[in-house]
Amino acid sequence: MKKLESRRKHNTKILPFDDAAISEAEKLLSKGGICAVPTETVYGLAAAAFHDKAVERIFTAKGRPQNNPLIVHVSDPRMVYPLVAEIPKQLEPLAKHFWPGPLTLIMKKNGLVPDIVTGGLDTIAIRIPSHPLMLQLIETCGYPLAAPSANTSGAPSPTTAEHVYSDLCGKIPLILDGGSCEVGLESTILSLTGETPKLLRPGAVTVEQIEKIIGQISIAEGVTRPHEGNPDSPGLSYTHYSPKANLTLFVGSREDFVAAAKNGGYDHALCFVTEGEACGLPYASLGAAENSISAQRLLYSALRELDERKAEKVLCRCPAANGDWLALYNRLLRASGFKVSENV
Ligand code: TXA
Ligand code: MG
Repeated sequence: MKKLESRRKHNTKILPFDDAAISEAEKLLSKGGICAVPTETVYGLAAAAFHDKAVERIFTAKGRPQNNPLIVHVSDPRMVYPLVAEIPKQLEPLAKHFWPGPLTLIMKKNGLVPDIVTGGLDTIAIRIPSHPLMLQLIETCGYPLAAPSANTSGAPSPTTAEHVYSDLCGKIPLILDGGSCEVGLESTILSLTGETPKLLRPGAVTVEQIEKIIGQISIAEGVTRPHEGNPDSPGLSYTHYSPKANLTLFVGSREDFVAAAKNGGYDHALCFVTEGEACGLPYASLGAAENSISAQRLLYSALRELDERKAEKVLCRCPAANGDWLALYNRLLRASGFKVSENV
């Protein structure tokens, strides 16, 4: 009851995923409004991509720096052509294999795309999400939707409508509730603007899967260590996914992790269930050991849970920096401010 009252007071409506909600969202977006929507990766905060004022509302609601560009979401590969200046040869095979799905492609942009969407860059980030609600919404609108993750800038990305609500209530009029996001981490970002395609952000579509389709790619510096100089993606220069607690990543065996968690003055752990049970500390769970899919799905809820519990000093078992674990490794690295320790 209290929750409902506060929803009314803050004027942020949460609607369940259905045709009526899509119709309401389309009306809102068409007149320059913004609206939070589920995707298969994380919730996004959407606006009509060609409506400058609407896109500006996204930056204001999130408190996002204006030079950090947004991903443009389309529902069909044919919607890509008017947005780009040239078609890279890798677009077709990648689109065929991974779209709709968690892969964002960076290409040279068409001059008609508003600068506010692309943070003044001459490139544009585009993807086709696979969540049926989001796809249906884009199809109903008939135009591309610009959408960053629907969190306050710097906070962990939202994977439920409640996460969006707790960050943005009172700042946005509408949240479409499509349940928990299936993937739980943001899309893989691959730049197709240079000689060799370059991974800017790892995600559920892995380096190995991409290389099977288009051959070898390179990996941007900021993915596994702090970048020096100008980053390939403006997003790499911001602190991200940060819990309020001080998070340290521990590289080592399960036994060493448990000993370090017990003796290192930590008040919480962030780890798989078996380690959590063994270390005797309160812990936020990354699910069953060795399962990267559930760990990805649980990560952002776990980071938010640590904040709710007012955790101060947290030890996290560091995942492998490759293969299916690279995306989780990258997010944890950034959440910890690149704090990795082998002898805690
Ligand atoms: O899964 C996702 O990608 C989610 C859902 C909503 O689609 N979106 C998302 O958006 O994570 P956001 O804004 O939180 O992250 C997009 C990242 C930012 O780090 C931004 O700097 C980078 O993409 N980016 C966007 N356009 C770019 C461009 N033209 N060149 C390089 N990086 C770009
Ligand atoms: Mg984001």
